[in-house]
Amino acid sequence: MVAASEKAKGRVLLPKNVVPLKYDLTLDVDLDKFIFDGNEKVELQVVEETATIVLHSKELLIKHVTFTPQGGKPIELIGLAHNLRHHTLAFTFASPLPVGLGELHVVYQGSHNNQMAGFYRSGYTDIAGKSKVMVSTQFESLDARRAFPCWDEPGVKAVFEVTLVIPRALTAFSNMPEVESSEQSGTGKRVLRYAPTPKMSTYLLAFVVGEFDFVQDMTKHGVMVRVYTPPGKAEEGRFGLRVAKDTLDLYDDFFAVPYPLPKLDMVAIPEFAMGAMENWGLVTYREVDILINEHKASSQQKQRVATVVAHELAHQWFGNLVTMQWWDDLWLNEGFASWTENYATDILFPDWLMWEQFTIDAQNAALNLDSLRTSHPIQVPIAHAEEVEQVFDAISYCKGASVVRMLHAVLGPADFKRGLQLYMQRHQYSNTETFDLWNAWEKVSGKPIGQMMASWTEQMGYPIVRVEQADLTDGKAYLTVSQSWFLVEGALSKEEESKLWTVPLLYGTAASVNGSTGVRPDLQILTFKTDTIEVPLRGPNDWVKLNLGQHAPLRVLYPPVLLARLAAGVRDKTLPATDRAGLLMDCFNLTKKGEIPATQLLTLIKAYEQEDNSTVWEALAQVLTALDKLLIQAPEIRKRFGHFASSLVKPAALKVGWDPRSDDGHLGKLLRATLINLLSLFCWSEPEVLGEARRRFEAILLNPLDVATLPTEYKVPVLSMVLKAGHQYEFDQVMRLYRDAPSNVEKKQVYNAIGATSDPKLKRRVLDWALQDIKLQDFFYPIGSVSSSSHEGLELAWDFFKLNLPQLKAKLATASSSLMDAVIVYSCGSFSTAEKADEIETFFRENPLPSSQRKIAQTLERIRINARFLDRLRSEIGNSAFWKKLAGEV
Ligand code: BES
Ligand code: ZN
Repeated sequence: MVAASEKAKGRVLLPKNVVPLKYDLTLDVDLDKFIFDGNEKVELQVVEETATIVLHSKELLIKHVTFTPQGGKPIELIGLAHNLRHHTLAFTFASPLPVGLGELHVVYQGSHNNQMAGFYRSGYTDIAGKSKVMVSTQFESLDARRAFPCWDEPGVKAVFEVTLVIPRALTAFSNMPEVESSEQSGTGKRVLRYAPTPKMSTYLLAFVVGEFDFVQDMTKHGVMVRVYTPPGKAEEGRFGLRVAKDTLDLYDDFFAVPYPLPKLDMVAIPEFAMGAMENWGLVTYREVDILINEHKASSQQKQRVATVVAHELAHQWFGNLVTMQWWDDLWLNEGFASWTENYATDILFPDWLMWEQFTIDAQNAALNLDSLRTSHPIQVPIAHAEEVEQVFDAISYCKGASVVRMLHAVLGPADFKRGLQLYMQRHQYSNTETFDLWNAWEKVSGKPIGQMMASWTEQMGYPIVRVEQADLTDGKAYLTVSQSWFLVEGALSKEEESKLWTVPLLYGTAASVNGSTGVRPDLQILTFKTDTIEVPLRGPNDWVKLNLGQHAPLRVLYPPVLLARLAAGVRDKTLPATDRAGLLMDCFNLTKKGEIPATQLLTLIKAYEQEDNSTVWEALAQVLTALDKLLIQAPEIRKRFGHFASSLVKPAALKVGWDPRSDDGHLGKLLRATLINLLSLFCWSEPEVLGEARRRFEAILLNPLDVATLPTEYKVPVLSMVLKAGHQYEFDQVMRLYRDAPSNVEKKQVYNAIGATSDPKLKRRVLDWALQDIKLQDFFYPIGSVSSSSHEGLELAWDFFKLNLPQLKAKLATASSSLMDAVIVYSCGSFSTAEKADEIETFFRENPLPSSQRKIAQTLERIRINARFLDRLRSEIGNSAFWKKLAGEV
């Protein structure tokens, strides 16, 4: 019953003998019993005569089923079979259903679970302190079937006409505007009917029922945008509203297909598994990812809300209007939206320099995961839909976004945009595969995009570009370069050695980035194993940088002579900030891979002494933090390294200071946050640092609103320092901040700090508290804060995990596997010995968690890599002579 090409790809799909055209769905919700009654009529096209209809359904009680051919009599159901593995139902009818139109009628009941999936319930406390319940949906990827029987595959699009029956005092929304409202007599309920949706996939349908306030605004094209907040918090929706309105206007122009619905609602949901969900016309958010208190919010929070909104609104086109045919092209949704969130935010907030930040954020996350053998290609085969949950990861999101950015550099903004517009026009209201996108860009540019991109999306991994030879004579650099698969570890087989990428490589010297000279970076496309590049030099010590601007997701290895020139470019800052950050991340990872000795890495780090750029400091923070974490196992070296790190951090922190300045700007605030975080890591026990932290802590104990003394930007590191240096009193005070927290934002700050307490008994208490008392959506944060607090904390968290796995499984029951993944990574991801890796592997062999299989394999690989890295560090930077030399003492 499965089409041949799909069978060949091993996909398990529903039979295509009947095709749904329109769902007429009535849901009557009962917020006392947490159940809903469903009445569903599906207009179908029977394509092939059959007596059975197979469709998805999960946790639904089916009460009555009939099928009525158009113009005919109802046909009774004679058989109903559940397949609990694939969550399907097979209805068998008394006689075959004739080819043509017909209506399937199903009466059923479902429940509002507390697992943040399907049509689920959230509990919350309103501003008057009363406990309340609301219900909302989360259908992606496979949970529409928990709300109504359906063809729950992205490729099966249909029209949805929704009716909700709700308690009279509440408000409700669906994807489309309400068109009719009436009171039901005798039940105290209201019946709300919504306009039919456009043709769309099941995972994008949504309903929300509860009590809300809102703020609203209208786009240039007349689309009404609203942000719904808990009662009393409407003002906290203003920032997200502004971003949404501006972003919609921007996308209307960018995609040249205007947003097709008459309204866009965005709702803050009290319990939410992810950050946000792009339901068409009814985007749902975790509260901290949409609500902003403009008096208190940090730069990080504003940036997070802006990027989340821009991401979800990008999906209104990429995902909702044009949808991947099947989950193996998930990256078309998530990778593209992850690129666009930066594109839009960069235009709306030019001073945030989003593309500079991209290098160390998304691109670096992509390169990290994709350096493992347990990675996967961007276009990833998904046989059983259940597997898709595990690929909402840094490959689909971040590598996806990175290859789009690389293409943007190759095509240039004009062709890039024209190609997208063509793609939208060609495929609106339907489904695509990756090559449809390449085709559109090929058509407008005449360039062989498909061929180039296949090497990036169909095979996993990315290249290390080695400068094998550098001849620096006659005012020119003649470089011989080679490419091979960058695996952090492990030898390559013959076949693997020959893996190639089509690499668009931008390169240049100081002259190419100095706008006034008119020299632009050059582009060369590497397609072979080795190649040569010729670069004109302006001066005798000119640096040469490959992958200038870090547009391609890869790592570059330079010979010492070129690295030394680049280090000089770091010192005098002729090397642009993006490249300073990129060079550092490359060298750190090349050290990890064993291509560069750690001594060389540390010498390079020293070149960043005068650094003042926030993104470059964030890169430094990532590297210094990672090394410090590893060196926990080597206390002698760690002490020396700590001195070195604080000799970099302290002067920079001193310059920036603790107090906000009027000329900080967004990035100045980020820089201060990064530096105080580093102080909390490397200098927390120094009297002046700890004294500052304590003073500011005491100020918010007296007045939690005193953000002038303790800015939100660095509240977490301050709480952490005070907890680390303190005892029961500090712990109790921080817990009091938690209890008095006016919103989730403040609660989350406590979750992220509380594990820092120095007392192991209190650390254990935090772990119990997380499991017993904290909402499912957040409970892994305190576990993470314990495990990242110290080596002891890590051991405690892992013991806790092992001991409480049954309870964890019960708590997470049927919730998204991403929550279990988070707990696993937080509990054991930071170990760095082979013995620990063996122990963890054995534990999961004896206690398998199939839906977290990929995460576990990646975690184990990472631990083993770190173990060997640590061994190398011991031998490379273990002797004191090196440290003395680095400190300039000899
Ligand atoms: N479509 C996803 C939400 C989602 C994630 C559904 C995983 C099912 C499984 C949404 O567009 C998304 O990507 N949300 C991100 C935030 C975004 C800004 C990266 C999230 O929830 O973390
Ligand atoms: Zn997304």
